[in-house]
Order: sequence, then structure tokens, then C-alpha cells
Amino acid sequence: VNVKDLHRTGYHFQPLKHWINDPNGPMYFNGIYHLFYQYNPKGAVWGNIVWAHSVSKDLINWERLEPAIFPSKSFDKYGCWSGSATILPGNKPVILYSGIIDKNNTQVQNYAVPANLSDPYLQEWIKPDDNPLIVADKSVNKTAFRDPTTAWLGKDGEWRITLGSRHKDKGISLLYKSKDFINWTRVKKPLHSVDGTGNWECPDFFPVSVQGTKELDTSVIEGNIKHVMKISLDATRYDYYTLGKYNTKKDKYIPDKGMVDGWNGLRYDRGNFYASKSFFDPAKNRRILWGWANESDYVHDDVKKGWAGVQLIPRTIVLDPNGKQLLLWPVEELETLRGKKVELTNKKLEKGEQVEINGVSAAQADVEVTFSFGSLDKAEPFHSSWDRYDAQKLCSHKGSTVHGGVGPFGLITLATEKLEEFTPVFFRIFKDQDKHVVLMCSDASRSSLADKKGTYRPSFAGFVDVDLTDKKLSLRSLIDHSVVESFGANGKVCITSRVYPTLATYNNAHLYAFNNGTEAVKIESLTAWSMNKPQVMNQ
Ligand code: FRU
Repeated sequence: VNVKDLHRTGYHFQPLKHWINDPNGPMYFNGIYHLFYQYNPKGAVWGNIVWAHSVSKDLINWERLEPAIFPSKSFDKYGCWSGSATILPGNKPVILYSGIIDKNNTQVQNYAVPANLSDPYLQEWIKPDDNPLIVADKSVNKTAFRDPTTAWLGKDGEWRITLGSRHKDKGISLLYKSKDFINWTRVKKPLHSVDGTGNWECPDFFPVSVQGTKELDTSVIEGNIKHVMKISLDATRYDYYTLGKYNTKKDKYIPDKGMVDGWNGLRYDRGNFYASKSFFDPAKNRRILWGWANESDYVHDDVKKGWAGVQLIPRTIVLDPNGKQLLLWPVEELETLRGKKVELTNKKLEKGEQVEINGVSAAQADVEVTFSFGSLDKAEPFHSSWDRYDAQKLCSHKGSTVHGGVGPFGLITLATEKLEEFTPVFFRIFKDQDKHVVLMCSDASRSSLADKKGTYRPSFAGFVDVDLTDKKLSLRSLIDHSVVESFGANGKVCITSRVYPTLATYNNAHLYAFNNGTEAVKIESLTAWSMNKPQVMNQ
């Protein structure tokens, strides 16, 4: 296999070549899912940014189209940056995006509309002459002024959007209002802000239903709901969120009591997942999240392979019944790619035991497993000096080969037989006074023999807020050559790693389940599937 294909994904979304970043303007329109994304048509590094465009009937099989929005006017001459779609009354889609108008990176907000609403794919987009819609007023930082959200309708009949900005070191989501979607005015007070978080990129603001089975359009602002405020923090490159209440009278978002806002906050994903965007899918009454995973390799390696970046498998978003966090899960359509299947049940793993999952293509697989354990008595103490917010640091000390009490146990993905290369995804349970602390790790530190000094191979990790009374923990991993996307405890903690094995590739990759804790664990059930390639037209 040549260098261009060695780490290409089998079932994730990526273009044939070149650089991609943020997912843009995802929407469902007349039976078709649209995905736009930031794309460099000229190379595998960031630059020359246009909105590439693909369409699908099921979020899995795609048809590639020509770029929908590209620099062509004075209001977007230097780049067409991120933005969102809104379906206006009368079933009329409109896109809002950030245009770069000069070499100083000055940002404005523009709109684009389909040239022909009867084209089922909405291939051609028009940027009307009354653009730009919004320019920064004097009090706003015009180079930190971007990424408009999907609009929602207030009770006063006015549309609102928020966009990312900052004032000095304070991260801000600016709020704008409009009666006609053309004339926009800034609401004096921002929708939300947090000191010391730096620039906010790609904010997302939407309702989730409380105890409901149906998710909601972005314009649902009242009822048995909570609101989610997501921000992408440029300084750490993670997507953080809080749950809270949208005070529609004051046009202000207020996080729930006890929510941590900023660096130590909840994350959609504890790994390589950034600039995500959600949309409401009216066909299945669900909210779907798209996120981007950048490469973790050296830039010159990206250039050599001729491509950089993938879109992760779209995930549904629902509120955890505990009301304190979200649950993310791969869309059900992914299961249509499941091919050959192997199962394992009631398999006990003593300390130091490892069992190979044979019979599936381990480099391109979907694995679901439930582990159980007899007791928590042997859980290691959680030291009071450890940082309750820094799971990653703990994981970097307590790796999969460091023996423990209850755990580490989990999966070993993209492994060679002698474990020269491997990416383990695992749990480890600690006891902290009368509580238990569950650590989940996706550890890339030994994923590749090609590692040179200074490569980025983090031991991504999170703490899982899960009830252990039934003494069970579940894990799902989507393994796809250079991507390992994992979901702990039904989506309470998600971790995505990008890895670049040199030996554990294609048929030489192996998959194992393991236990390195003194407490024996049982694989209650494990199902693994080889994953087929989706159909992508215009390859
Ligand atoms: C986030 C981001 C956005 C911007 C776009 C440019 O990754 O920096 O803030 O609109 O990428 O490509």
C-alpha cells in the first residue's frame, strides 16, 4: 500500500485528496442530507478555503459535488469560513458564513441562497449583492468575529444568531437580531461569555428535550427543554459545552448550577474532535452532530500523503437522564455498513489475560463490548493530590500495561501480535472515600513505531460519571485505519484518537480484549463487525 493510502479511512468521510477542516451548514432538505466543509482545493495544508459540498440520503453513502461557496466577491475574497444553514419558513434554506475581506483577516458575515430550489442537490448557491449582512462595529474585534450559528426565532418574531468572538481574553458569543434575515442589529449584551477562555470559535446553541423521545428544531426555545451552549476553544482545540437555561426575556444563556464553564468543562469528545456543528433532522426527529478530526502527524507527512483531516461519524445528541450531561452515539445508519460478525460471551479474563478477537478485519471494524466484575473491593485509591479535571495526566501515568486493582481492562486496537504497536481503549476504577471514580483512556502513546521526537501521541482520557451498582461497563469502538472513535458507558464519555501504525495496518492489524487488574473481569458479551466501505459517487 502506498503512503497516500496507508492511513486513509475506510468508512469515515473524507475527500479524495487535500485539506479539510470544520463541518459547515449541515442540514436536511427535501429528503437529502447536505454536508459542507472547509476545504483547500489546492493542497493538504490549511488555506484557500472554500465550502466543499456532498449530499447523502443516509449520512453514510455520499455523492461529491462541486464546491458550493468559494471566494468570488469583495465580501469573501480572502476566504469563505465556517457557518451554518437555517431552513426559513416556506422551506427555504439559507446559509450564513464568515467572509474574509482583506489580508488583515477582517471578518464579516454573509449569506448565500440556492440558485434553484427545484434542484434536489442544491448544487449552485448565489451570494446576493446586499452582502455583507453583518460587519463588526467599533466595539467588536473584527478579526475574532466569525462562525455564525443556525438562526432561531424569538417570541417577538425576530431571528437570532450567535457568533464567536472575544474581548481581550474573555471569550464571547455575540448575539444579533433581525426581523427579515437581512438587516441585523447587535444585542448589546452577548448571549454568553467566560473570562480567560480566549477566542471562541464555532459556537453552537440549541435545545435538548428533557425526558423526551424527540429532539427539537433550533427555534424551540420553551417547554420541557434545556439549552446546550457549545464553544470551540482555539487555545486547547477541544469542544466544550454546558447545559443551561435560555432566558428568552433577557436573551441570555445561563448555565445550570454546578456546571463548569471553560477549560475544565464537559466535552463532546476528550480527544481529537473540533469545530463541531449540530443540526436538527426532522426526518427522524433527532439532533445530529458532525465533528472534525485533524491529523496528529507532522505537516510534511500530511503533504506526502496528499490529504489531511476527516469528518467523524455523525453522532446523535440526547440529554443523559441524569440531566447533567449529554450522551453521544453514532447514528444508527452506520450499522448498515456492518459486515462479517463475531461474538464472544461469558469469557472470563484473569489478571494479565488477553484474548484475540479473530475473524473480523481489525483495521476496519465496529466493536461493542460489555464488561462485568464481581466486586469493587480491589479498586485502587484515588489520591487526593490528583487533579479531578486532568484525566489525561492520570492516564499517562496509569497506562494499559500498569497493573491495577479493578482495571485496566478494555480493548487493544490496531495492534501488532507482539504489541510493538497498539492503541488501547480501557477503563480503570478508583475508590475515592465513599465514591468510585471511573477513568476511561484512549492511549496513542504506543500506537506507532514511526514516532520521532516531539510527535503528538496523547493519552486522551476522561472521567465517566456512571452508576456502577450493576458492576458493568460498556464500550464501543469504531476502528478505521488511522481513527479510533470510542464511546464509554453508552456515550457518556467519547474519545477520538488519530494514530499512524506502520505494522498494524490492513490484514496485519489485530484486535484484543484484555485485563491487567487483580480483580477478574468478564466479557459479558462482545460483538465485532468488519465494516464495509460506503458508496461514494464521483470518486
Ligand atoms: C475553526 C476555524 C473557524 C474558521 C475556520 C477557518 O477550525 O478556525 O473559526 O471559521 O476554521 O477555516
